[in-house]
Amino acid sequence: MTSSLLKDGFNRVHTYLRISVTDRCNLRCAYCMPAEGIVYREKKELLTFEEIERVAAIMVRHGVTKIRLTGGEPMVRRGIEDLAKGLSRLKGLKTLAMTTNGTLLSDKAETLKKSGIKALNISLDTLRKERFLEVTRRDQFDQVWNGIQSALKQNFDELKLNVVIMAGFNDDEIPDFVDFAFQNRINVRFIEFMPFKDNEWKIDKVVTYKEMTERIETQYKLTALSADPSAVGKDFVLSDKSGNRGSGTVSFITSMSDSFCSTCNRLRLTADGSVKSCLFYPAEINLRDRMRDGATDIEIEEMIGYSLSLKPEAHAPAEELSQSDNRTMIEIGG
Ligand code: GTP
Ligand code: 5AD
Ligand code: SF4
Repeated sequence: MTSSLLKDGFNRVHTYLRISVTDRCNLRCAYCMPAEGIVYREKKELLTFEEIERVAAIMVRHGVTKIRLTGGEPMVRRGIEDLAKGLSRLKGLKTLAMTTNGTLLSDKAETLKKSGIKALNISLDTLRKERFLEVTRRDQFDQVWNGIQSALKQNFDELKLNVVIMAGFNDDEIPDFVDFAFQNRINVRFIEFMPFKDNEWKIDKVVTYKEMTERIETQYKLTALSADPSAVGKDFVLSDKSGNRGSGTVSFITSMSDSFCSTCNRLRLTADGSVKSCLFYPAEINLRDRMRDGATDIEIEEMIGYSLSLKPEAHAPAEELSQSDNRTMIEIGG
């Protein structure tokens, strides 16, 4: 049962917690982080696994049913499987998920599944090696590709591929990604490029949901699937010109052209221990220092409630967001 703690001022009930376990990453995606100037947190500034589990347990007691581990890159944090095992034992939690860049996945997909991860989202923005190097500033395409192949073999309850589409960079690959979704049991999600601090965002780099579906419909028929009202993606089944149905599906994450704030059910815990009520809202309430000073669970609950009381009804318009002093994506974890 969800308690009133996780209800905000606009009657949105928060059942989905995104936990960033590290602000570090082994890639350097240009749309996620600036090329230089990122100051990483020291280890002692990060929540320990015990602290993460404590906050997660409080939230699950109050009605959180889904937790997603994010980063930076969550798999660079040593012992992440142990954290997953601990979290997956929380009574009341239905789904433990992870979003990863896939570079460290090929040997670890099976271990992750055994540790309780049921849903896996992998980020890959291009199927071309040279473009991968350009966008991530690292030559790791083959590792990610092998990671995806390993994940496909593991039969996760949900397996998704996140593709951030940027006009003039990878929008010409939309058909290749759709073919990949047609041929494999995977959900390929095309994400509208969003503005964060120093991420080279411009409105004319955004390819909208409408533009993407128009391009895809020249090759495939898209049939809408009904979705959970708080899902960020609009989901579709694919059929080819002969009426054959695809093995996988495609979705669109339309934060820029059609935002979904009114049904948002997400809360975030940053790697350094702050509750962040909205991806785009800079205000954060730090739990770490209070926990280390001996805060009781009731005091922690009060801070979580306070953070939610500040949650805005909707995010500001895109142009305004690009100027805001919100943290970079790599620090927030998506
Ligand atoms: P599911 O749980 O599978 O629906 O995944 P997800 O979409 O919540 O998580 P993922 O980490 O795969 O993120 C995919 C994209 O959705 C990224 O671009 C995120 O930044 C974006 N996203 C996640 N949560 C929010 C949110 O609350 N608001 C907005 N605008 N975008 C979000
Ligand atoms: N716009 C949209 N999605 C982004 N991601 C990172 N930066 C952006 C951005 N500027 C995505 C990553 C990853 C997820 C956590 O967030 O590709 O899949
Ligand atoms: Fe790392 Fe993901 Fe950011 Fe790329 S988008 S730098 S993979 S955290």
